[in-house]
Amino acid sequence: MKEKLEALKQKALSDLETVKDAAALEQLRVAYLGKKSELASILKGMASLSPEERPVIGQLGNSVRSAIEQAFEKAKANVSKLETEKKINSEKLDVTLPSKLISMGSLHPLTKIQSQMEDIFLGMGFTIAEGPEVETDYYNFTALNTPEFHPARDVQDTFYITDKVLLRSQTSTVQVHVMEQNEPPIRIISPGRVYRSDAVDATHSPMFHQCEGLVVDKGITMADLKGTLETFAKAMFGGKTELRFRPHHFPFTEPSCEVDVSCFVCGGCGCSVCKGEGWIEILGAGMVHPNVLRMSGIDPEVYSGFAFGMGIERIVMTKYGISDMRLLYENDVRFLRQF
Ligand code: PHE
Repeated sequence: MKEKLEALKQKALSDLETVKDAAALEQLRVAYLGKKSELASILKGMASLSPEERPVIGQLGNSVRSAIEQAFEKAKANVSKLETEKKINSEKLDVTLPSKLISMGSLHPLTKIQSQMEDIFLGMGFTIAEGPEVETDYYNFTALNTPEFHPARDVQDTFYITDKVLLRSQTSTVQVHVMEQNEPPIRIISPGRVYRSDAVDATHSPMFHQCEGLVVDKGITMADLKGTLETFAKAMFGGKTELRFRPHHFPFTEPSCEVDVSCFVCGGCGCSVCKGEGWIEILGAGMVHPNVLRMSGIDPEVYSGFAFGMGIERIVMTKYGISDMRLLYENDVRFLRQF
């Protein structure tokens, strides 16, 4: 029995020393240390030994078992090292390979131009104000000095929800909210959606975007309006841009004007972008009408102000040379991807 145990130990140790992979190692574990292993059956046979022999063989059996167990642990560590090496050698990582393309979205051109506008005015000390898109006729018309019989109140131009509630047709509504809630000095812009019951075509949409501007303080004059708009236009369209102020009429400003910028494509000689005019109309503006100030609780004897409102689509379309407004709302990625 002694010889048998010794031989078993020698064989197990030499097998474990040369084992190279996890599957073979597992086979060895079952063969040498498992319940049905030779060692187990030898130890079982100890019952038939004499009382003198039994402890001697028992001790030897235990030392053989622990020698095999130790050799097994060593083999296990070795096999795992070999397997890692094998894996490293087979899985070469080429860090110079081009990566998978992650397709990034892009900002909608309207969003892009709007945030450029915001940046420019924030830089001049304006803050951004917001107002509701569902309004009462008071904010859309009455408080903006637009009399009952004015054609802009017509159902043909404005979406009415009830007699008194409507979808705002201009961002000028925000002027009133801001003046009601704040004391001068006031210096805000307010970009947002407006609605008019126009049929859809290349230059009309029942929903479009405007950006309102309002400044109210002591001693504000038309010169401030001019300087502000000139700074904006040069930042938006380029340093050589010139402005042209044409007299106009709005119920809520007096005097009122429409403002054109010199064509940033041809510089004023006439091209397809400015339709041969040399000028591109971008906004309506004027000095806030004293009635408008008064109705919102600001004393026109103490304060004066200017306001302007521009169409964002118009600026996007001229800047990017887009001839059909519908492209801006169709969400065709082939179009949107270009910005
Ligand atoms: N609300 C005017 C429009 O929609 C634009 C405007 C705003 C004009 C502010 C003057 C002052 O046409």
